[in-house]
Amino acid sequence: MEFLDPKLDDYVVRNTDPEPQVLQDLNRETYSKILYPRMLAGHYQGRVLSMLSHMIQPKRVLEIGTYTGYSALCWAEGLQDGGVVDTVEINEELETMIKKFWEASEQAHQIRLHIGHALDLIPQLDGNFDLVYIDADKENYPHYFDHVIDRVNKGGYIIADNVLWSGKVIEDQPDHETQSLMDYAQKVHDDPRVSNVLLPVRDGLLVARKTI
Ligand SMILES: C[S@@+](CC[C@H](N)C(=O)[O-])C[C@H]1O[C@@H](n2cnc3c(N)ncnc32)[C@H](O)[C@@H]1O
Repeated sequence: MEFLDPKLDDYVVRNTDPEPQVLQDLNRETYSKILYPRMLAGHYQGRVLSMLSHMIQPKRVLEIGTYTGYSALCWAEGLQDGGVVDTVEINEELETMIKKFWEASEQAHQIRLHIGHALDLIPQLDGNFDLVYIDADKENYPHYFDHVIDRVNKGGYIIADNVLWSGKVIEDQPDHETQSLMDYAQKVHDDPRVSNVLLPVRDGLLVARKTI
């Protein structure tokens, strides 16, 4: 589902930074070689993630759901000096492609890939995070929040993608994934440890800032 009129969408993109060359190449190869390429953040959303990262200037980012590595590169653009993005992906078959494009980027040394189930791997990562990006299996969004909330620094962020789920979140009789996304939004909204705003960027970004 497209939320914006195509002409307005075109205007939005024309008034947004161009997509960096390495991301253009990764975008093109993902669409030509990998299943479900719409999962990749893409030009406009990628520039939004990059801008958020520059605004937050995180030292540690945890990304849940790497896919072909596009959004990890966007988050890495705004890291503080010496900062790191840890990103977790369950599909080991994507590793070669992910690394090929990261190695062609300026951010290669700032991104670490972890292959496995995020709920198993997150407890094995050390330290706390300034920003967590949730963009993996929708059924586990509420579990991811529970897994990371105590490891987000005060003033840090948890940002979740696809919270509008192509508009399905306002339909009657939601399916399992949709219900999980609705539960996630309610959970974040009810949690006194965070303040939140839902940005209708592409498929919806729910931004939560940890206040205590
Ligand atoms: C929407 S894609 C991520 C897109 C990526 N963040 C981007 O914008 O370029 C979701 C990814 O999460 C991965 N995934 C699904 N379940 C997972 C899990 N339990 N642990 C880790 N990764 C998972 C999928 O294999 C898929 O590559």
